[in-house]
This record gives sequence, C-alpha cells and structure tokens, in this order.
Amino acid sequence: MALPDMTERVYVFKGFERFWHWTQAALVIFMMLSGFEIHGSVRLLGFERAVQLHTLAAWSLVGLWVFAVFWHATTGEWRHYIPTFDKFRQMLRYYAWGIFQHEPHPFRPTAANKHNPLQRLTYLLVLVLVSPLIWISGWLYLFYGDWAAWGLNSLGLEWVAAAHTAGAYLMLAFVITHLYMATTGPTLLSQTRAMVTGWEELH
Ligand code: HEM
Repeated sequence: MALPDMTERVYVFKGFERFWHWTQAALVIFMMLSGFEIHGSVRLLGFERAVQLHTLAAWSLVGLWVFAVFWHATTGEWRHYIPTFDKFRQMLRYYAWGIFQHEPHPFRPTAANKHNPLQRLTYLLVLVLVSPLIWISGWLYLFYGDWAAWGLNSLGLEWVAAAHTAGAYLMLAFVITHLYMATTGPTLLSQTRAMVTGWEELH
C-alpha cells in the first residue's frame, strides 16, 4: 500500500528576503574571491582589477544593507534574530548525533518563527561580531589616505589589514558551515529551493 504523502508546506521567506539573501550571497562570495586575491592567496582577475571590483562590491553591499535594515525595521522581521535557548540543547544533540540516526528534526519552522535556535544565535553573531569587524576595518582600509586628516596617524595599517583578513576567514567559516547546514533539510536541495520559492517543505 502506498504511504500517504506527509509533506506539508509553509511560506516562510518573503520576496524581498529572498532577493536580499541571494544578492548578499553573490556579493559576499565575490568579496571573498577578490579579497583573497588582494591578499595574494588566489589569482583570478589580477591585483588592480580585484581592488577595483572589491571596492565596487563593497559599495553595492552598503546599498543592499540600507534597504535590508529598512525592511527588517519596518516589517518587524528583525525579531527573528532575537536569540533563544528554547530547544537549544536538543538542536546541538540533533546535529551532533540525531541527524545521523535519521531522527526527526526537533524544530518546525513557521512564518512567525522561521529560524531554529542555532540559526538565531549564528546569524546574530555574524551581525554583531563578524560584520562590524569586516565593515569597520574595510572602511578604514578604504579611507587610508584620510587617516592623517582624521588624526588616526598612530593606527597601523598592518593591524587594520589583519583585522579585515581575520573577518574574512570568519566569514569563510560561516559560509562553509551555512552551505553544509543548507543540505541537511528533508532532501539535499529542499532548503535551497525554499530560499528560491519561499515555501519550506516539512516532512
Ligand atoms: C564579506 C565581505 C568581505 C570580505 C570576505 C573581504 C575580504 C578581504 C580580504 C581577504 C582582503 C585582503 C586583506 C589583506 O591582505 O590585507 C580585503 C581587502 C580590502 N577590503 Fe575587503 N572584504 C570584505 C568586505 C569589505 C568591505 C565591506 C569593505 C569596505 C567597506 C572592504 C574594503 C577592502 C579594502 C579597501 C581592501 C584593500 C584593498 C587594497 O589593497 O587597496 N572589504 N578584503
């Protein structure tokens, strides 16, 4: 006898959110490639072009962030990033052990609560630690020529470069973890599909 289809669908990702996610993903990946070329780790565009395009992508990201901050503030969607420790231990246990035993996922997303506790904490850390590190060091790097006028003579360029590179490695670690987590839904691509269509499948 055929089993009944137990798939349920919930609409969790709105249009702007999906646009923001994919545009930001493309820009961040491009910033990593061009940044690590400036750093000397990869060779793709040539140093000069990498510097030019890294700066252009940085300004594009600023523009995107202005819209994203406005959208989160006006729609109340910022609430999805408030950390919670409800079911936190179950989540850790699930990803360390349960997932390999095909246990059911301890969290069910809804439109009102779309991020599990691990996602909430990770995104918040990216927002309050990794992003400011990259942004502040990036701005200082960008305006190196103005440091004297701003009275920042005592600031060493090597420290700004080290902070920016450390931020880039943290971002790389986030992207790798995020890509792995994205494949752990009901099927390998179901969560990626959800970020394209907005509809999350629950089994
Ligand atoms: C995910 C975002 C980003 C990543 C992964 C990233 C990565 C990098 C890396 C690895 C370098 C080379 C550092 C070195 O070897 O000293 C670099 C250079 C640089 N980055 Fe970024 N970056 C990002 C965002 C930004 C932002 C938002 C800005 C500006 C607001 C920025 C401005 C710069 C500048 C000005 C340089 C130096 C270019 C030069 O040599 O003239 N970056 N970036």
